[in-house]
Amino acid sequence: MAGRARARRFVLAGALMIAWLLCLLPRATAAAVRRSDFPPSFLFGTATSSYQIEGAYLEGNKSLSNWDVFSHVPGRIEDGSTGDVADDHYHRYEDDIELMHSLGTNAYRFSISWARILPRGRFGEVNPAGIAFYNRLIDSLLLKGIEPFVTLSHYDIPQELEDRYGAWLGGAEARRDFGHLADVCFAAFGDRVRHWATFNEPNVAVTRGYMLGTYPPGRCSRSCARGNSDAEPYVAAHNVVLAHAAAVQIYKTKYQSKQKGLIGIVMSTVWFVPLTDAPADRLATERALAFDVPWFLDPIIYGDYPPEMRRLLGSRLPTFSPEERRTLGYGLDFIGINHYTTLYARDCMISPGYCPSGQEFHQSLAAYTGERDGIPIGPPTAMPTFYVVPDGIEKMVTYIMNRYSNLPMFITENGYAQGGDGYTTRAEDWLDDQGRIQYLEGYLAKLAKVISDGADVRGYFIWYLIDNFEWLYGYTLRFGLHYVDYQTQERKPKSLALWYKRFLQSSLEAQ
Ligand SMILES: *[C@@H]1O[C@H](CO)[C@@H](O)[C@H](O)[C@H]1NC(C)=O
Repeated sequence: MAGRARARRFVLAGALMIAWLLCLLPRATAAAVRRSDFPPSFLFGTATSSYQIEGAYLEGNKSLSNWDVFSHVPGRIEDGSTGDVADDHYHRYEDDIELMHSLGTNAYRFSISWARILPRGRFGEVNPAGIAFYNRLIDSLLLKGIEPFVTLSHYDIPQELEDRYGAWLGGAEARRDFGHLADVCFAAFGDRVRHWATFNEPNVAVTRGYMLGTYPPGRCSRSCARGNSDAEPYVAAHNVVLAHAAAVQIYKTKYQSKQKGLIGIVMSTVWFVPLTDAPADRLATERALAFDVPWFLDPIIYGDYPPEMRRLLGSRLPTFSPEERRTLGYGLDFIGINHYTTLYARDCMISPGYCPSGQEFHQSLAAYTGERDGIPIGPPTAMPTFYVVPDGIEKMVTYIMNRYSNLPMFITENGYAQGGDGYTTRAEDWLDDQGRIQYLEGYLAKLAKVISDGADVRGYFIWYLIDNFEWLYGYTLRFGLHYVDYQTQERKPKSLALWYKRFLQSSLEAQ
């Protein structure tokens, strides 16, 4: 009797305990990640780029950039739109800084429009109106305690440089022009800017511009009017690597000791996992990884292209002269990591023909896919090939940390697009974006973990402050923390903005 009563009490206590744990569970998940899981000096910001936000494409003596020209070609942009007006940020930058301030961010990543600063490259004068705009922007940010994190070229280049010498195919000419842009920017803004990125995602710009032909200058072998997909991407990449080196050399020899900033480069990163356990798929995965980030970072940091690429491409990869190698010796101070997704990789070297057309990743003889046996690798987002796979950020940072001896890193982009076919047109629906909150929580929790495991990651930027011109997708995808009504240019915070704000405040509550 007594025994049974005790057993009943025990069961009751157990049930209560489980109920109590179940009550705690949602709260425990909600607090899966807090501001205080990151170092106090950590930068938390939002990211944008000039062409996607500024508009005012013919104002203040700016010239046309490659993207101005490209987006005006009918059929290039999904909704036939351009960045002519975009978010009109050129005139509304103070309101936008107010949005950043209301979020509680302490940093802002943006890019300089090259065609605003040097409308004719080094064949013309520095444009005072362009310098004045970025001075106003930088000063207004600093007044609000927001650190400027500046990219020199985010896919854009004055069209005149494309017309004169073919932009990144232009060898020493292109490198000299980029060095000149860098020099002008360090001199004008370097007293207030402590983080400089030379290029944004040159791996994407070069692949789409010269291999697939989908970004300017739209060159490729198969379906483009001009180009050579087997050779030009490697020449363009070579010039970008050397242009980066030229800018770093200028910064390190002329400015860094006085200005005390850091200079790096921003890479697009995709984490790959083998589609099957077959050794061929595992090798294909390693190739896909090497043909992406190390394509640029190995030469910049170690002085030559990755062995995985050299083995497959042979003499299609250019070589560095001893002189160029010396310039590369200036290396970089940090690696910017744009990370969104993980994909499967499968071999198409041993089993040729296994790569469906258009699915080979770069020229690595590895095909990518987001699905295994019809099941997506993670919840899909509106951006095709972008899936929610939080583990990927931990794996990607670990890969870069190991390959480059834990150089300082920043997550310079991470985010989730709404939109696509058949998506709502009601503003209210865009504002309620719970799925994106789960994305951010998941990725930030994994980022906190890899930092506690020793990765030297120093900041995190959400792509994007406000809805914006999203390259080939025009205005059909919306990455913004804030919704933009493009008729009125009104901005409204989405749930994700409120979540980010609360997350950033959680440190104050915890301390
Ligand atoms: C544009 O350039 C012209 C000619 O140099 C100059 O007179 C004018 O003031 C400039 N406009 C702006 C907005 O700076």
